[in-house]
This record gives sequence, C-alpha cells and structure tokens, in this order.
Amino acid sequence: MSIYLGIDIGTSGTKTLAINERGKILGQAMVTYPCYHPRPLWSEQDPDDWWNATVKTVRAVVKKAKLKAADVRAIGLSGQMHGSVFLDKQNCVVRRALLWNDQRTAAECEEIEKRAGGRKQLIGMVANPALTGFTAPKILWLRNNEPKNFAKTVKVLLPKDEIRRRLTGEFATEVSDASGMLLLDVVHRRWSNELLSKLELDATLLARCEESDEVTGRLTPSAAKMLGLSTDCMVVGGAGDCAAGAVGNGIVRQGVLSTSIGTSGVVFVHSDSPQVDPEGRLHTFCHAVRGKWHMMGVTLAAGGSLQWFRNALCETVAALAKRRKIDVYDVLTEEAAVTPPGAEGLFFLPYLAGERTPHADPLARGAFVGLTLKHGRGHMVRSILEGVTYSLRDCLEIIEEQKVAVKQIRASGGGARSAFWRQMQADVLGKTVVSMAADEGPAYGVALLAAIGAGEFNNIAEACDATVKTKGQTKPNSAARKQYDKGFPEYQQLYRSLRDDFKKIATLA
Ligand code: XUL
Repeated sequence: MSIYLGIDIGTSGTKTLAINERGKILGQAMVTYPCYHPRPLWSEQDPDDWWNATVKTVRAVVKKAKLKAADVRAIGLSGQMHGSVFLDKQNCVVRRALLWNDQRTAAECEEIEKRAGGRKQLIGMVANPALTGFTAPKILWLRNNEPKNFAKTVKVLLPKDEIRRRLTGEFATEVSDASGMLLLDVVHRRWSNELLSKLELDATLLARCEESDEVTGRLTPSAAKMLGLSTDCMVVGGAGDCAAGAVGNGIVRQGVLSTSIGTSGVVFVHSDSPQVDPEGRLHTFCHAVRGKWHMMGVTLAAGGSLQWFRNALCETVAALAKRRKIDVYDVLTEEAAVTPPGAEGLFFLPYLAGERTPHADPLARGAFVGLTLKHGRGHMVRSILEGVTYSLRDCLEIIEEQKVAVKQIRASGGGARSAFWRQMQADVLGKTVVSMAADEGPAYGVALLAAIGAGEFNNIAEACDATVKTKGQTKPNSAARKQYDKGFPEYQQLYRSLRDDFKKIATLA
C-alpha cells in the first residue's frame, strides 16, 4: 500500500491528511495556533508553533489511520504564502515571521519600485508590482528597521519551506510559492538576479527553487523518529496554499476558475502562458503545474471578516451555540438568511487588514456604511458576506478584462460549505457556481503532488482526473442578481469616497 501525506501550514492552524494511491482520504488532523498583532496591521507567527503543529498532526493522522511507517512514501507541503522566516547561521529563527497579511512595508514597496527603475520595469522583471504582503519588502523592512537582526540573517524561507528544512535539512522551495516572494523571474521560473542585484540582496539568502512535483529530500533520522515515519519518506516540493488548493480542486486546465473563501478570499485562474496584468492588480504566478502559470486576485479578509465579527461581537451567541453543540457560523448565517439581499441598504467594506486586489492599499479600513435603527445582527452578517462576495466580484471582473476565457467557476474553502453563501456567490457573480465533491483544501492538493513526485501518476492533470470530482451546481436567482447588480457599483464607489479618509484615519491609530 502507498500512502501520501499533505501538510498545510495555514494561518489559523496546520492541517495534515493522508490519502491512498486512489486519492481516498484515510485520516486528517488539525492543530491551531495564535497569530500576533503587536501593532495595528502587523501580523506575525512563531515558526516553532508551525513545527509543533506539524509533528502533532502527522502523529495524530498516523495513529488515526493506523498507518505503517514503511507505507508512507511521500509528503507534500503547502502553506500560507509570502511569510518570511529569517534564519541565522545556526539555523535559529532570528525573530517571529512576518505574514502575508502584514501591512508594515509600504515604504519598502516604494523603495523596491524606485530601485527597480519604476513600476513597469519591476513588473517586467518579476511579473508583479511590489505589494506590502510579499516577501521582498519584508526583507528590506528588516534591513531598514532591525539592522541587527538583518545582519544575523543568512537565509529567508517561506513558511512551508522552513518546515521542509526541519523535515529534511534541505533549503528548498518551489516555483508557485517562490513567485510570491517578488524575487522570482516568473516568466522563466528562476530567481531574478537582476532584481536581487538592484535591491542589493545576496542570492545566497534564498533557497534553491524547484518545480512543485519535484522530490526535494527525505526525512532526516530525527524528523522520522519524531513523526513516526521512515527515513525513506520523500518530501516533494508542494505549493503555496493558493496553487495547492487549486490542484485539489482540479484547476489545472485553461478555462476553469475557482473562488476560495478561507481567512483570505482568492479568485484563481489557470493560464497556459504567463499573462501579466499591466496594471499589476492581479498576481501572475507560476502554477504548480509544470510549464503553466496562474493569475489570481486576493482579498485579505474574507472568512477573516466573519471570524472577526464572531470574535469581537458575538461572544454570547458563540457560547450558546457551543452549549447547543451547533456551529456559531450556522447560527449567524441563519440570522443573515432571513434578511433580504442588499441587507436593506447596509454595506460592509471588508478591508480589515488593508486590501490587496483591486486596491493594493495597506491603509484601507473595514467599514459598515448605511446603518439605521432597523438593522440588526442578521443584517450586519449579511452585509459582511455580501461585502466579501463583492470583493470576489472585483477580482473576477479584472480577470475577465484580461480576456481569460472562464468556462466554469468552482467554489471552495470554508465559505463554499455554506449553501447560503454559495447561493450568494452565484447571485453576486452572476454565474453558475459548481461545488466540489470533497473540498479538502491545500493539504489535499499537495498530497496529490506528493503522489506525483513519487511516481504514482504521470502528471497533475492525470492525478486530478483520477481523484477530483465536482458535485452539483448553484444557479443565480434572477431577483437577487438584479439587486446585487445595483449594489455592486455602490460598493465600489464607497472605497473611492472613503479612500482619503482612510489615509487620515491611519495617522490617528
Ligand atoms: C495569497 C495570500 C493568501 C495566503 C493565505 O497571495 O496572500 O491567500 O496565502 O494563506
């Protein structure tokens, strides 16, 4: 029997699952950890938490699924993208990692554009503009703000690649996650020596970069012992969580697009060629599929907006739901469902962590606009779901502007599990939305990549055809769709109206 593990180092926790050679899930486990916000819009995690969660979840899956060490042939790694793990020459972490949704690097983004000779030149080198969440600005931030820590740093790794180092002793990454560092020549799938030299960064800071289904090493004796696995177990490149989730949902051919609602919201489309948005609103990254690319729009607080609302304002409902053994999100969406589309004039801007697509504005802020005495919690929840879904529509419209043919939309992530939110996606996007038979997210995608790396399948398309199935469709409701077609331009206008105030507000925080 051949078993493959997928490990996803997410923002809210690490999820590990095991599949057999036919892609059947044999067991899974999740361990959560904290995210630190030492200042507004700063976001950090401790790589030791990721490692401890990796060890715990792998051991739990091995136990639950009664796996024999010798049967586990390969592991695939996925993780939150763009995070920066700074290592010293003893391989010790220099400081907590800065995450994808950390917004402290606006000045460094300007510096990068200037050093590159302008935005157009930068996009020419790495296919993307400098965005605060990306990794290169974080490295410059360390150099500019914590010079002692920068002087100690000899390597900068992405979250899943730090776990790979602890598993195998190898410093390696792969093209899909490396694309989000802003240091990869995305078109040629190799580090951009041109940009590295303009930024005066040493290429030795970076790990070697492979394709996503390449074997990058095997477990060290100590890692094998800790996990209860064998030193024969291979660790395959894997992918950033967006590309990994896309593989898990079969987004590996032209014309298929996915929306994914997790902490962030992602609209992801496969592309046979590296199509670059000249305005830099979309990310153009290497796909986990060899010789292919993808474009995506990312809204930073999608499920994260609802999670914030629950944590900040729904303590009593959460406690009650827990006692009744029901999911607090089900209670909140039920309340939202009895309010009408458009939430009777209440709008929510989901910019709680600033925004990436389409505004690339770290100073954007969240807002409820249009509150009246009539509005209750249900309206507020509905307006949050609508605001997040409008922000997915923002991404979709830019993708469609690039003349990428979209034949099918597949909904995934926690947000797609709610029938109510799925219907809202169909209504707001004005398109039929297809559901997945099993939506196990990035961990499933990289378990498939592990199977491919170990030779179980010839390529990703073959692996997806054998394992990934769709299930059911949600068609737009014409009355709701009309309502949202009227609401969307107003939603877009609210950001334009408030943009300058957001800037002023940022100086007060
Ligand atoms: C993608 C991005 C987020 C994180 C979340 O560009 O920043 O989706 O990867 O895990």
